[in-house]
Amino acid sequence: MEPSERVMAKLKAGCVCKGVKLIRLIEAIENGATTFEQVAATTGIGDGPCQGKRCGEKVAELLAQHRLG
Ligand code: FES
Repeated sequence: MEPSERVMAKLKAGCVCKGVKLIRLIEAIENGATTFEQVAATTGIGDGPCQGKRCGEKVAELLAQHRLG
């Protein structure tokens, strides 16, 4: 991941409901999380009003990118 992408990820929302930035989700995956449940367990996302609908899609995308990268 480019440094500029990391800067943007510090500003972008990862989980809107819980106010968790995108960079936290990326770091969880970089630290070994391989499922939404594992990312949720370390970041506290997924149990907001949308019940992980929105952040679930982001995590799925990030996991796919991580597998390819
Ligand atoms: S965006 Fe994460 S629980 Fe709604």
